[in-house]
Amino acid sequence: MDAVSQAISQIGVVPVIKLNHPERDAAPLAKALTAGGVPVAEVTFRAAGAAKAIALMVQECPDMLVGAGTVLSTAQVDEALAAGAKFIVTPGLDIEIVKYCQSKGVPIFPGCTTPTDYHAAYKLGLEVLKFFPAEQSGGLAKIKAMAAPFPMFKVMPTGGISLKNLADYLKAPVIAACGGSYMVTADLIDNNKWDEIIDLCKKSVEIVKEARG
Ligand code: 3PG
Repeated sequence: MDAVSQAISQIGVVPVIKLNHPERDAAPLAKALTAGGVPVAEVTFRAAGAAKAIALMVQECPDMLVGAGTVLSTAQVDEALAAGAKFIVTPGLDIEIVKYCQSKGVPIFPGCTTPTDYHAAYKLGLEVLKFFPAEQSGGLAKIKAMAAPFPMFKVMPTGGISLKNLADYLKAPVIAACGGSYMVTADLIDNNKWDEIIDLCKKSVEIVKEARG
């Protein structure tokens, strides 16, 4: 596993972020996540200004692992990398984008949920997959079933993960880390509730520690 994937796996949770006001909120958010012990973020290209948000977060916390999510084109990969993104996440498996990221040496976690997705990912030499949308696609039971024919992968489930089910996922050795927006909801970010974000991150870190013994 590459160093970035290892570091993300070590942290155990990945906040999935959509910033409506990157200029105002990106830097304090980076500080809050770092203060909470979760120095990693998947900044989604669902909101305009995602590249700007990535750049501001990296500027504020240079050691933070800031990546780009909901990346739908190689042009967005370029934008993300220029902003300082250290990893790329796509909602589905797009072979062109995977190969492009591999040619640039940047870790790519494509969304995969079916045997066909996993098989294509295997042929591409990938090691870590995003399992998305996790709960809606069968959750942990499906992830475990998929690991039988494809034991070579670690997965990052995202979609429907919260403090309630985080421990269950993290206890399974197939899980690299869990992604979620529960600690960075629009309400928390737009209303600048940084202390609550720090608190949710700290609670998540506790769960990671307990689940992994
Ligand atoms: C994602 O993009 O990975 C998900 O939309 C995040 O899912 P959640 O909001 O259910 O955590």
